[in-house]
Amino acid sequence: MNAAVDAALEAIAAATDSAALKAVRSAHAGEASPLAALNGSLRSVPNDQKAALGKLVGQARGRVAKALSEREGEIVAAETEARLAAEAIDVTAVPLRRVPGARHPLTLLQDRVSDIFVGMGWEIAEGPEVESEWFNFDALNFDADHPARAMQDTFFVEPLESHLVLRTHTSPVQVRSLLERELPVYVLAPGRVYRTDELDATHTPVFMQFEGLAVDKGLTMAHLRGTLDHFVKSVFGDDAKVRLRPSYFPFTEPSAELDFWHPTFKDGPRWIEWGGCGMINPNVLRSAGIDPEVYSGFAFGMGVERGLMLRDGVQDMREMVEGDVRFSQQFGMVV
Ligand code: DAH
Repeated sequence: MNAAVDAALEAIAAATDSAALKAVRSAHAGEASPLAALNGSLRSVPNDQKAALGKLVGQARGRVAKALSEREGEIVAAETEARLAAEAIDVTAVPLRRVPGARHPLTLLQDRVSDIFVGMGWEIAEGPEVESEWFNFDALNFDADHPARAMQDTFFVEPLESHLVLRTHTSPVQVRSLLERELPVYVLAPGRVYRTDELDATHTPVFMQFEGLAVDKGLTMAHLRGTLDHFVKSVFGDDAKVRLRPSYFPFTEPSAELDFWHPTFKDGPRWIEWGGCGMINPNVLRSAGIDPEVYSGFAFGMGVERGLMLRDGVQDMREMVEGDVRFSQQFGMVV
């Protein structure tokens, strides 16, 4: 009997977790345990010894039961402590917080502009940023010796015989659209353009423009003006309006500088210059195989960065290209 008790106590002490203790309990105190067998054998013990032996067996079982419950207490306490330690939260720890992104304000403005024209039934057109010299200049009626082709403005792609450039404006999408689409054509072409400017507060070698092009029968400058008027009102409010000043571009005739009345300009309402426009030069229509006696059209081109500066009072263009998310976040977390 002592051997059975010793074996039980040893096994209890050796159990280190609840599962092990459960197994020990069933082996040393369960129905099939040696002590239970001893208890059962009391029935066949002579009556005069029954009481004494019964007492001994009872004590032995009591010691085992007590050891079991003490060990159980220890194990439960240790397991609880371990779980609490594992689940502990250090409220003073520096959080691994991921800074949420925000769409770039230039993209937001570009999308806003696109939406305004889509709302008038126009389509969005695209062209490549690595463009052939022919689309970028020739088809747009630039003379072979036009100063805009010169090295100081244009990024030429090597080898020079490839006659590829990084497009200097979105105007080449005009001719591409006319070649690709059925007439009439009403398209807006937003996109990136490149010029060999140094990055400073008012210049960047990569910037964005949007180009408008409408070619139909019977279009006049009045349609151009009405379209632009609706556009500036949509961006700058109902008090905005358009003024056209005579100018020159090879691909439009007549051509105009596009000024608009900025009712909420940071230094007070005033006329502001924002891009160029005009009636499509017949030579451009001919480049696209369109008869200028039958069709006419208008076009305009504006810079998105300048639009953002004018609308939101951004002072320095470099903020727009540096990619600091805090700049974007000021315009709202529209992701
Ligand atoms: N492409 C011209 C530029 O980048 C802007 C421009 C002027 C576009 C007149 C036009 C236009 O469509 O008609 O300076």
